[in-house]
Amino acid sequence: MKVSVFGLGYVGAVTAGCLSARGHSVVGVDVAPHKVEELARGKPPIIEPELEARLATGVASGRLRATCDAAAAVADTDLSLVCVGTPSTVSGALDLGFVRQVTREIIDAAHRKSTPHALVFRSTMLPGSTRALVAEFAADIVAAGRLSVFYYPEFLREGTAVKDFDQPSLAAVGSSDGSPPPPPFTELFGESVAAVDWETAEMLKYACNAFHATKVTFANEIGRLARGLGVDGAAVMEILCRDTRLNISPYYLRPGNPFGGSCLPKDVRALVNRARQTGASVPLLENLLPSNERHLHSLLELIASSHHHEIVLLGLSFKTNTDDLRESAMVEVAQHCLGRGHAVRIFDPQLNLAALVGANKRVIDSRMPHLASLLHPDLASAIGTSGLIVVSQKCVAIDELARVVTDQHQILDVNGWPDLRNLPARYHGFCW
Ligand SMILES: NC(=O)c1ccc[n+]([C@@H]2O[C@H](COP(=O)([O-])OP(=O)(O)OC[C@H]3O[C@@H](n4cnc5c(N)ncnc54)[C@H](O)[C@@H]3O)[C@@H](O)[C@H]2O)c1
Repeated sequence: MKVSVFGLGYVGAVTAGCLSARGHSVVGVDVAPHKVEELARGKPPIIEPELEARLATGVASGRLRATCDAAAAVADTDLSLVCVGTPSTVSGALDLGFVRQVTREIIDAAHRKSTPHALVFRSTMLPGSTRALVAEFAADIVAAGRLSVFYYPEFLREGTAVKDFDQPSLAAVGSSDGSPPPPPFTELFGESVAAVDWETAEMLKYACNAFHATKVTFANEIGRLARGLGVDGAAVMEILCRDTRLNISPYYLRPGNPFGGSCLPKDVRALVNRARQTGASVPLLENLLPSNERHLHSLLELIASSHHHEIVLLGLSFKTNTDDLRESAMVEVAQHCLGRGHAVRIFDPQLNLAALVGANKRVIDSRMPHLASLLHPDLASAIGTSGLIVVSQKCVAIDELARVVTDQHQILDVNGWPDLRNLPARYHGFCW
């Protein structure tokens, strides 16, 4: 392919060098003449292992050159990759000034071409940015089928950027409607790339970086806290990482129910309390319970906004296959709805009131003494003929639900159960 790469910083210079090494014909474009001159001589404008060899080979082979002339670069290529910076403004907002400038230049030049062009954003941009840029600069040329637009987030790390480019840890490409890029683009994006819409691809990049930042901060807070308690935090984290079932795994990484139960809230509370006593400041850990409460709040707001009088809770315990009601978010939901005068019906086949003992029974005695009158042993009588069904657990088979749910119901899927979409009721997802 003939590719122009806009912005010759860390991402652009590596992209230009690596694409030329793969046999593509590449033109690098930058507004900084010294970067263009360096790249044109096969010299990296940045320090990055292995890059110099790629650039030197690319220039020597004639497959890599550089220019400050954006229009000529677009005219000579089939596809433009936007790798310009997206810095923070003083207020912390995202500054899209460079992206807007470069988009305008590429679209102007694409208008003057007789052949179709593709515009691929790699710069990190907040969800909605690509759609807004297309609406502002490219609506006509896209509608005419003369410009394809993709958002293709970059996941390379400085210091290992060339290796990361060759073997990306993740590849996703966004299109307007989420459809996979057509065949000519497969060689650029790869066969196994995840095809999503622009906004999902944009959000994915931020989710990855926020996750990485959370991991680093978590390990550092555990380390600080452990040291203050006379414990080797590095050893703790090293052993923690050996658990690839619950710790380093997709487990606990799906948006859904607030956390609850007999352990997580209690243990986070105790750890944060001890941190305060030792004078350690651990803002990430301190904010876990407030964040969980905020999550519960947004669930309550969603329920309130449905304007249903009848509320059906599918699942009351804190997760499936347990009768543990301690710190269960659904107990809060039930209490809140009752307090607001809703008619509440509950179905939870794991709950046998007569068998509840100890702390679990105390939850009911102190917080929901009238639970017996709300709990329906029979699914059909719990579901009734109308109302909002708040599903927090897969505590019943989908076929059984299909027999009783009607189009007079609305479903609020709290924990991610895709089959619920096939029921006749209107479907709403909590975080999707
Ligand atoms: N650095 C990383 O490790 C990394 C990794 C993944 C994604 N990203 C994202 O990629 C984007 C680029 O990051 P970077 O670190 O390469 O930035 P950078 O600041 O190193 O390079 C950006 C380049 O764009 C050039 N530029 C600005 N306006 C231009 C224009 N109108 N025409 C042509 N060139 C122009 C600048 O002169 C500069 O050389 C950012 O959105 C960043 O968040 C960076």
